[in-house]
Amino acid sequence: MDGNGRWAKNRGLPRIEGHRRGVENVREILKAARDRDVKYLTLFAFSVENWQRPAEEISALMGLLELFLSRNLKDLVENEVRLRVIGRPEELPERVQSPLRKALEATKNFTARQLNVALNYGSRTEVLDAVRAYAEAVSEGREDPKRLDWPGFTKFLYTDGIPDPDLLIRTSGETRLSNFLLLQCAYSEMYFSPVNWPDFGRAEFEAALESYKSRERRYGRTGEQVQAHAPAEEASVGQ
Ligand code: FPP
Repeated sequence: MDGNGRWAKNRGLPRIEGHRRGVENVREILKAARDRDVKYLTLFAFSVENWQRPAEEISALMGLLELFLSRNLKDLVENEVRLRVIGRPEELPERVQSPLRKALEATKNFTARQLNVALNYGSRTEVLDAVRAYAEAVSEGREDPKRLDWPGFTKFLYTDGIPDPDLLIRTSGETRLSNFLLLQCAYSEMYFSPVNWPDFGRAEFEAALESYKSRERRYGRTGEQVQAHAPAEEASVGQ
């Protein structure tokens, strides 16, 4: 959800106003995704690198997150959306802990749709956490390194149980991944939009889905192979 700051700056507004409009847009995109039957939607809300921002911006972002959780819980429940967090939420400030716990608990049994929010997330931190947990499992005899394969390792990632993204959208014209789901996006299609997140509405979201439809996902095979047979199963790739 990139470009909130620039959206605000372009209008002579404080950065936090861009974030506030960004959160309004989250509601818009949640609706658009629901209408298009997107089962898993993942939002990159706060990275491990974002702690380097000015303290007042961090505090405002946490306030917006708190507000989003308390104002949208009813909506999530009504639409049977399960909320999940990927990252290290335990390091977030106290003020978001309680609304977060409440929302996770209230939605934990829903299976129709899932909203994943990446909070205090970084791919490299995720890998370190996974390796640490894996090493512990090995030392306790629960895992055998000789039998390790990719599906087995993914159980140690924050995204355990969440399918890899089919489509990654980054707004605001930046064309990099910025430490986001680096392993999970190995075979994801990328869509880079020049539009800043607060203006990335339903029409832009629909355009991204249209673009996705025209992609040929080969998973290492040739185009001819893909056209002749059913598409390769992603799970069987890279083991
Ligand atoms: C990117 O814009 C946006 C963020 C770093 C924060 C987005 C998070 C929130 C608005 C908190 C609430 C989250 C949810 C899920 C409700 P930027 O500041 O990097 O923009 P710039 O690159 O133009 O400066």
